[in-house]
Amino acid sequence: MSAPTVLITGCSSGIGRASATAFAAAGAEVYATARQGGALDGLSEGINKRELDVVDEESMRSVVDEIVARHGAVDILVNNAGYGLQAPVETAALEDVRRQFETNVFGLVRLTQLVLPGMREQSNGRIVNLSSMGGRFTFPGGGFYHATKHAVEAISDALRLEVASFGIRVIVVEPGPVLTEFGTTAVSTMPDGDASPQSADPYGEFMRRVAATYAGAYDGSRSKLASSADDVARVIVKAARARRPRPRYVVGPVARALVGSKRVLPDRAFDALVKSQYPTP
Ligand SMILES: NC(=O)c1ccc[n+]([C@@H]2O[C@H](COP(=O)([O-])OP(=O)(O)OC[C@H]3O[C@@H](n4cnc5c(N)ncnc54)[C@H](OP(=O)(O)O)[C@@H]3O)[C@@H](O)[C@H]2O)c1
Repeated sequence: MSAPTVLITGCSSGIGRASATAFAAAGAEVYATARQGGALDGLSEGINKRELDVVDEESMRSVVDEIVARHGAVDILVNNAGYGLQAPVETAALEDVRRQFETNVFGLVRLTQLVLPGMREQSNGRIVNLSSMGGRFTFPGGGFYHATKHAVEAISDALRLEVASFGIRVIVVEPGPVLTEFGTTAVSTMPDGDASPQSADPYGEFMRRVAATYAGAYDGSRSKLASSADDVARVIVKAARARRPRPRYVVGPVARALVGSKRVLPDRAFDALVKSQYPTP
């Protein structure tokens, strides 16, 4: 790798932060970004740290303009920023659903649009989009998060074919559970449903069990099948450096098992599998 310039979103924690470190170790010129600049403290000195919020056009434009002015183009974009809204379809507040799409989908699309002219100009570029195993199927309670990841999959499939002739490769990364802040943030998005037996909330008890499932899946001491952020970062760097990257990289044993099952099982059988592993109302 001859010091390509890498722009990564959501580097305050988790996969984004681990990717910034992994790309820097591989010799890249890294621009690690986060909503709050202070959240990047602690990343190594050689990493460029910038504030960037994927729902703020101006903040995205200013970082891309700076990279283009200094280096000619962004060589590798890692669209990583995102979170998982957990809310039943019936009772989700549309304002929360819109914010979910603004962050996970429209932010990714807009930043991609901003880096593409530079990539086209130099006939070279890599765009790595963080989807999820949840971009290949859907868990109850997470319909809108999954919808954003299905959207990322569809947009990436279109983009891959639209930009291939310009020398730009588009890569989707699909992790299963990864031990990051993701689980805690997901639980924090849940509506304050009333789970008491007298409650009129038909989803209160269900969401309480979803929260417990999340807590278990993201507890490193209990969840032996979860990946680490470093595991995912290694895959991202490998995919970004590969001469002929695959369109998709499934990461971790849970993702491999569930994505594989979804591919071969009829819908009713896959529903039964989900019901055996995951709460439903
Ligand atoms: N962990 C998993 O199990 C898992 C599995 C599959 C896919 N993924 C995907 O992997 C990606 C990274 O998640 P993670 O696991 O590393 O979780 P994480 O530790 O919670 O990191 C998420 C990052 O996204 C940032 N972010 C959220 N909204 C943003 C915005 N508007 N603008 C800029 N940054 C924003 C967060 O910043 P703040 O600190 O400012 O909120 C944080 O840096 C996400 O797209 C997620 O959907 C995660």
